[in-house]
Amino acid sequence: MTYLIANWKSHHTNTQSLAWLNEIEKHLKNPSPNLKVVICLPFTDIPEFNRHLNFSKISLFVGAQTVSSHPAGKHTGDITAEMLSELVTYCLVGHSERRSSFNETSQDVAKQTSSLLKYNITPIICLDDPYLEEQIKKLYEANINLSGCIFAYEPVSAIGSGKPESPEIAGKVIGKIALLTNEDSPILYGGSVSPENALSFIKIPKISGVLVGTSSLDPTIFGKLIKNL
Ligand code: PGA
Repeated sequence: MTYLIANWKSHHTNTQSLAWLNEIEKHLKNPSPNLKVVICLPFTDIPEFNRHLNFSKISLFVGAQTVSSHPAGKHTGDITAEMLSELVTYCLVGHSERRSSFNETSQDVAKQTSSLLKYNITPIICLDDPYLEEQIKKLYEANINLSGCIFAYEPVSAIGSGKPESPEIAGKVIGKIALLTNEDSPILYGGSVSPENALSFIKIPKISGVLVGTSSLDPTIFGKLIKNL
């Protein structure tokens, strides 16, 4: 199975997300059975996006971009895994932007992962070199079943820069993640993936797909990615 996972970040209002969905439908009419497409949306877009998705015949999975590290309680503004469980089947955790702008730690990410698994949501755990080993250690310490997770190697220097990691180096780091996790979990590459370079990552053994930010926002560009994969 090849994964194509979109991370919209803080882009697209509810109305814009529905226009995107309308456009992307034509690219997903006859999808390859080996390609799984997941769109990680802003919280505010998810319910209405789901409603429209139910009416269309396209095969698309919906995810969130983060989750509270706490259970239900006095945590103003937080969205729990239990709340998400009625809306999504995937959720990103530990994106470097969450770590740098919201001070999320590897410990928080382990707690988020645990909560998501408890509610049958597949965590997509983002990793980069400085905290890669620490993060995996925290997941083990929390007794998390790593076989239920997806991992994504996302070098900070490649995110949004137009300068992707070379597929060979990405393959090496992903090989290391596979060894450390000791599981057959899918491991993706993310960082300046485009319709032009996506295949060069997929061709590397152990890379099971791509996580895409910028190239997922425009449905025409994302449609090309679907076609090329
Ligand atoms: P990018 O973002 O594709 O714009 O580099 C990737 C990500 O942050 O997940």
